[in-house]
Amino acid sequence: MPPNPTRRLWRNITVFDGERELPEPMAVLVEDGRIARLCPDAALDESDTRGATEMGRGGVMTPGLVDCHTHLVFGGSRADEFTRRLEGASYAQIAQAGGGILSTVRATRAASETELHAAALPRLAALVADGATTVEIKSGYGLTLADELKMLRVARRLGDTLPVRVCTTLLGAHALPPEYRDDADGYVRLVCDEMIPAAAAEGLADTVDVFCEGIAFSPAQCERVFEAAARHGLAVKAHAEQLSNLGGAALAARHRALSADHLEYLDEAGVAALAEAGTVATLLPGAFLTLRETQLPPVAALRRHGVPMAIATDANPGSSPIFMPTLILNLACTLFRLTPSEALAGMTAHGARALGLTDTGRIAQGLRADLCMWDVARPAELAYAVQPGRLRQRVFDGEITHER
Ligand code: NIG
Ligand code: FE
Repeated sequence: MPPNPTRRLWRNITVFDGERELPEPMAVLVEDGRIARLCPDAALDESDTRGATEMGRGGVMTPGLVDCHTHLVFGGSRADEFTRRLEGASYAQIAQAGGGILSTVRATRAASETELHAAALPRLAALVADGATTVEIKSGYGLTLADELKMLRVARRLGDTLPVRVCTTLLGAHALPPEYRDDADGYVRLVCDEMIPAAAAEGLADTVDVFCEGIAFSPAQCERVFEAAARHGLAVKAHAEQLSNLGGAALAARHRALSADHLEYLDEAGVAALAEAGTVATLLPGAFLTLRETQLPPVAALRRHGVPMAIATDANPGSSPIFMPTLILNLACTLFRLTPSEALAGMTAHGARALGLTDTGRIAQGLRADLCMWDVARPAELAYAVQPGRLRQRVFDGEITHER
């Protein structure tokens, strides 16, 4: 039988399957974009190896990384705000003075689709080069119907430009734009009655997100957004309990949200609500670090209640200008005390779950072959050391997209 170039075999490798490190040396066979077989290397037989191209022996395989929370598409830069925060101004103070998110809104509105795409491409390329095979991208810096749809179109186009799965999220309820300063309810109406229907009709958004916070939208306003999303068949998620506790996570859970994100100020009742609904808790250590937050998310309670924890870069120009998923693995451990295994699960299996994806983020027979081969001795090293350049091979939909 001649070798089949789409039938690829890795042998004698250490596998982190999305939940845990498997105890034995394993073999993985990929065929036609799918994981055709995962078995102990010793159990491989003739029918597995026949016609397969051997891709290497040894090393660590993980699922391709899933970055389930980013704001990669934006205009301008917030380096000036970074300096102001170092001088003592808080994130909330800068936002209230019309800077912060709104300064990115001004730059994003002024940019064309082509310019936004060109600016975001190297950011996405950085995530991909560090092992991401699925990346969620939010709107939320347009805040008009046309500018939000523009951002979502750019996000979709990014997914056609690089070999990566892009999930898009409409975050119209991110900040109150200046033209609606005295009419928050009018703006929420715009989100519910125009943005959500248009994004759904054009197939531009996979999910709908809100920022439930004192400097953003109230729980009652977020609830209207959730109801509008449901009317258009879109799943929801929420930025909740980042700077204070408004009960946003429990509200999101009541609306069967895929995830509630940030969560530093989440209380026990909120944790129980997430557990009850099966909503993923997405932790964002990059924002915690950048904002020099001191309130830790309730990791022990999340564990106790069995809430799946995802972790993500939150890559954005303000609160987390970090475009390196493996650094986030490290920060989840050093700042939030996740174990390396929890951090890896958070950026693979649980990240996929936070996006409602069931066919990626894990290594199991029949799933999509979105995989990373790393030059490390053990999976824990990916979280332990901050060291670019360890990605040996990246496999997207069964194709090798990076080889070193
Ligand atoms: O996830 N919390 C609100 N939104 C973003 C920050 C966006 C920004 O500062 O530009 C976040 O942290
Ligand atoms: Fe965010």
